Amino acid sequence: MDLQALDALMAERHSCRAFAPTEIPKATIAQVLATARRAPSWCNAQPWRVDVTRGAATDRFRAALIEQAQSTAPKPDLPFPGSYSGVFQDRRRACGWALYEAVGVTKGDRAGSAREMMRNFALFDAPHCAVISSPAELGAYGAMDCGGFVTAFCLAAQALGIATIPQAAVASHGPFLHRYFDIPQDFLVLCAISFGYSDTAHPANGFRTDRAELDAFTQWHDG
Ligand SMILES: Cc1cc2nc3c(=O)[nH]c(=O)nc-3n(C[C@H](O)[C@H](O)[C@H](O)COP(=O)(O)O)c2cc1C
Repeated sequence: MDLQALDALMAERHSCRAFAPTEIPKATIAQVLATARRAPSWCNAQPWRVDVTRGAATDRFRAALIEQAQSTAPKPDLPFPGSYSGVFQDRRRACGWALYEAVGVTKGDRAGSAREMMRNFALFDAPHCAVISSPAELGAYGAMDCGGFVTAFCLAAQALGIATIPQAAVASHGPFLHRYFDIPQDFLVLCAISFGYSDTAHPANGFRTDRAELDAFTQWHDG
């Protein structure tokens, strides 16, 4: 593996928002998990708990999550950001609009944007979902370690041609997820990763996000 290969893999990966129904074999999912677990973590605590759905279990979860999202106010274990300001707000809007433009939701179309939001709870029709949680005891650092795991998972999947999308939206129903997957109360549900093969022709997969130049986030301290 060289940097070029890694960069190509990272450039290929993108968030997939429409999946084909084809199941991924359990052994292949295990391969992805086996690579992702190589992510670094503070004290090598490896704090990630991963609840993975397959087959009919995904469809049951999807139906229950949609029901939950339609009937209950969100209550994430980890509070969502209260606001995005400045450049963060700009980037948030840019990726939101890119999605809306791709799927034909126009400015002011509240029903259209609500429909698109609900696609999160349908797991974008993915055949699999991995719910990621971390011991509350480890606080923000456990969440940080799990962030690394999520990235490693997405890259490992991409290397096998499997598309992914990390989803905070799924984690917005914390109490439900604890009940549904029997996740201990002293764990924080952080996010989910829906995954499967991409429905490449779907308009929701027809755009890519960009990245800021190095100077926008790097302070060099030379000499
Ligand atoms: C922790 C995390 C949570 C996310 N939650 C959602 C989500 O709930 N719904 C969604 O459509 N995308 C979600 N995304 C995907 C981001 O919007 C996406 O990563 C970002 O716009 C960059 O685009 P890319 O992944 O295609 O490179 C999430 C990404 C991360 C890392």
